[in-house]
Amino acid sequence: MRCKGGFVPGRSGKGGRNQSRARRDRWSRAPPSSGSTSSHSPSTATIRIGAPASMGVARLVRARQTASRTRTVPSGPTASTASPISPTIQSRPIVGVEKRVRTIAGMPAAMPATVPAQLASFCTDEWVELRRQGWNHTEWLDRPRQIGNAIAHLMGAGQDNVVVCDNTTVNLCTILTEDGNFPTDLYVAQGLNHNHPDPPEVKVCASRDELIDSFNTDTAIVYLSHADYRSGECWNMADINHRAHAIDALTVWDLSHSTGAIPVDLTGDDADFAVGCGYKYLSAGPGGSAYLWVNPRHAEYGWPTICGWMGHQDVFAFATEYEPLSGAGRHATGTPAVIANEIFSCAAQIWQEVNEKHLWAKHKALGDLTMELLEQECGSLGVTINTPREYEQRGGHIGFSHPGAGPVSEALLAAGVVGSFRRPNSLRFGLGPLYLSYEDIWEAVSRLRKILESGDWQDAKYQTVSV
Ligand SMILES: Cc1ncc(COP(=O)(O)O)c(C=O)c1O
Repeated sequence: MRCKGGFVPGRSGKGGRNQSRARRDRWSRAPPSSGSTSSHSPSTATIRIGAPASMGVARLVRARQTASRTRTVPSGPTASTASPISPTIQSRPIVGVEKRVRTIAGMPAAMPATVPAQLASFCTDEWVELRRQGWNHTEWLDRPRQIGNAIAHLMGAGQDNVVVCDNTTVNLCTILTEDGNFPTDLYVAQGLNHNHPDPPEVKVCASRDELIDSFNTDTAIVYLSHADYRSGECWNMADINHRAHAIDALTVWDLSHSTGAIPVDLTGDDADFAVGCGYKYLSAGPGGSAYLWVNPRHAEYGWPTICGWMGHQDVFAFATEYEPLSGAGRHATGTPAVIANEIFSCAAQIWQEVNEKHLWAKHKALGDLTMELLEQECGSLGVTINTPREYEQRGGHIGFSHPGAGPVSEALLAAGVVGSFRRPNSLRFGLGPLYLSYEDIWEAVSRLRKILESGDWQDAKYQTVSV
């Protein structure tokens, strides 16, 4: 049987999940290299994550200030030399205005170039060829752990503490026990609350100050999105964990708009639980599996809310009694999304080789540039940046508002710039550091400026707004 993608070294004819576990060394991440590039196994070429000097950003902004208004694409080395495009991520060149600028909202992020071949091979070698034997002869059942290990360093997690499963919503349910420990989340909390015989109070705070002021000894769980999905504003995770622990509360973090873009240190910041979407910055693909992290100090404690057979310590024993698997893996529920995980595994191959510090530095530079250019080019045209200037308070995207945000977002789409609109009047550019170039940012903002200057967004054809 042939090997696929370099990430999965091959299959032997026996063993299934246990046998796969024995192979965990193959999933160990290569130690990060020092310097501004990270090098890889010979099968994959160098991924350049090296951050540009912030000087590069300043140069680009200054250049634009003096550039002619008729120029839409910057020339010279500044914008292009710093493009850290991985050869295994789909290439995204921009040539002239007809090309798409994939300044995307982070969901779904760019597709790794290896996906089509991986899927084709999966279909023929595994689905058609093996059918049910696939459970024993492939990595299907071990993918959740493998992928979790490949992305763990992006969130300051140790090996085997992250499991890829279900979606973020279900993962929230599984880690929230029903004994009174509830999050202040909206639907998940409300749903669990609705079905609970003796419902605890769910308090949703309107502001950051209110949340902090609400901490008291009755608080059981603090559930927060690390980065706000509209403004991109980020919480100080260490501070909130500290405050929560001081009143004996636990923290649950939704890292959907953080992991793969900004520094996250679950272990160092002493968080309790975390979940997040795989399909955003992590390039798991549309509908890709989510991830879940459990602080090792809680890993052996308690049953998941949803006790499924994939969280049983011996899946194929078909035992009548539930016995949780050791560690985070107990929170997996039913059959893993095998096909989706094939796709996620392509991205995981890349992630396991990425030096996170270089990735974050690149993201910071992209964010600085986006904010400076938005202000410089569009500040006088009704654009207000909603994301905090301070790097430590920023999530994966830069959010901004405009009175005509919906139609503007449609006009941007027509101009090839894929951002996203959130009611009532905000837009966001998600900055995937693995594949976005500085020139992408430049081009996206140029097109935005053109749309605002010309008033094109007021055209009737842009008034029906998609989400
Ligand atoms: C912060 C956050 N959490 C969760 C979700 C949804 O997660 P899922 O569809 O995997 O349940 C989203 C979707 O955009 C999100 O922005």
